Amino acid sequence: MTEDELFERALAARQRAYARYSSFLVGAALEDESGAVHVGCNVENAAYPVGTCAEAGAISAMRAAGGQTIRRIAVVGGLADAAGTVFCAPCGACRQRIAEFADANTQVLLRDDLGAVRRFDSGSLLPAAFGPADVLPTSAVKG
Ligand code: THU
Repeated sequence: MTEDELFERALAARQRAYARYSSFLVGAALEDESGAVHVGCNVENAAYPVGTCAEAGAISAMRAAGGQTIRRIAVVGGLADAAGTVFCAPCGACRQRIAEFADANTQVLLRDDLGAVRRFDSGSLLPAAFGPADVLPTSAVKG
């Protein structure tokens, strides 16, 4: 799948976002190690902290479908009443979520509505991350 196609999947997911409290609609589309694509959108809640981010939804969909590693994740977001999207950087919690399923090649892709793309290694978004290797015995780290 091309990068543009991955962004199109993220934009389609964004249209399903449930963001009635913030009006900030986010979509995420990730490609796993097999090339399968999984999407998510933010789903807010009247009890505000209970809301979930688009990236969390996409990662949950990946796991449910059997995917294990994020090869690329495209994120698009912006206010519902604005013309389009802005660079929507993953929040801190989502950087941690992405890191859990990232490897050295995992890319995080952001795009605004003018089509400009910013690309990050997952590691650069969360340097010195706390991760599986800190918790698990070495033999159990992968998977
Ligand atoms: N949001 C995401 O879904 N992903 C991000 O990377 C940043 C923020 C959501 C959470 C909340 O529903 C809304 O955007 C405004 O913060």
